[in-house]
Amino acid sequence: MLGRDDIGVDFGTSTCLVTIKGRGIALREPALCAVDKNTRNILAVGDDAISMLGRVPPNIVLVRPLKHGSVSDYDITMRMFRYYLRKSQGRRNVFRPRAFLCLPGSLTDVELRSLSDAILDAGARRTQVIDSAIASALGAGLDVTNSYGHMIVDIGGGITDIAVIARGRVVARDSTRPGGDRFSEAIARVVRRKHSIVIGERTADEIKLTMGDLTKKTDTPMQMSVTGRNLALGLPRTVLVKSNELASEMEEVAQEIAEGIHIVLENTLPELAADIFEHGITLTGGGALLPGLSDLLGAQLKVPFRVPSDPQTAAAVGLSYVMDNLEGLESIFR
Ligand SMILES: Nc1ncnc2c1ncn2[C@@H]1O[C@H](COP(=O)(O)OP(=O)(O)OP(=O)(O)O)[C@@H](O)[C@H]1O
Ligand SMILES: [Mg+2]
Repeated sequence: MLGRDDIGVDFGTSTCLVTIKGRGIALREPALCAVDKNTRNILAVGDDAISMLGRVPPNIVLVRPLKHGSVSDYDITMRMFRYYLRKSQGRRNVFRPRAFLCLPGSLTDVELRSLSDAILDAGARRTQVIDSAIASALGAGLDVTNSYGHMIVDIGGGITDIAVIARGRVVARDSTRPGGDRFSEAIARVVRRKHSIVIGERTADEIKLTMGDLTKKTDTPMQMSVTGRNLALGLPRTVLVKSNELASEMEEVAQEIAEGIHIVLENTLPELAADIFEHGITLTGGGALLPGLSDLLGAQLKVPFRVPSDPQTAAAVGLSYVMDNLEGLESIFR
């Protein structure tokens, strides 16, 4: 019976994933919730809240509790987590599970404590915190406990977390570089400049997911009709956006990520850096799904990049691995 009610939680700025020991991923929803400004009541969480993005009445705010890697609201985080806990457990109704949390390594100790407390308040019996870079590395199949140097670059929503791992510890890191959302912001800027319409976060994301591409296939650009608000008249207008219009602005974001990786490599011990050059860099997080990004980074930095088959769930898969292999992994807990 012992350990059967363990759960793993990858709480990101964009997505929350819950894994249950022995069952794999049980929940994968946007880390977003709609809150009534006046009463502070939570009106919708996750999938139900995402449909409200960009179209909420003035008395409702949409909150991303971990936006930009820090904890913005304790109470909301706690209630949101309680909702996820109930939903992921379904009718099994596991009583007070032990929670393995994978949190951004950039959180301060105070934030870490606050988040951990929120999750205890929401119904967990105990919490164990694992650095998200370590969880992602494990999920991508790297043996992080050996003395080789590994580099994991997790392109999340708000930030890109660049980390060098050796012997189960993060030995060099930078988490100041932009995450995947910045590619959407770049797209919104191009659409505004070239087509004179303003689009929201959700539309920009849709364009990115449909035709965001850094592979420079100029022969047959994709195109998509996009509706926004006309800058001059303030009225809705539909324009045709082509994929090749977007590439160069998006490349600038990739460039910022490449620079961050470069700096971390420069600050890594030579032996560990040599391991990384030999074995390559692992790219995880939703941003790793952007076509052409890993090749572009590889060409810039002259290091091979690899992307696991489902990069966005790497940290959650890593948590499952941790729950199944607790012995031998003692060194990784924060
Ligand atoms: N197919 C795709 N192509 C390009 N970008 C994508 C794709 N799927 C998801 N993304 C982007 O990935 C980002 C979210 O990644 P992820 O779910 O790993 O973030 P997170 O773990 O919640 O955030 P963080 O780790 O920063 O806390 C978003 O910017 C999203 O738009
Ligand atoms: Mg993440």
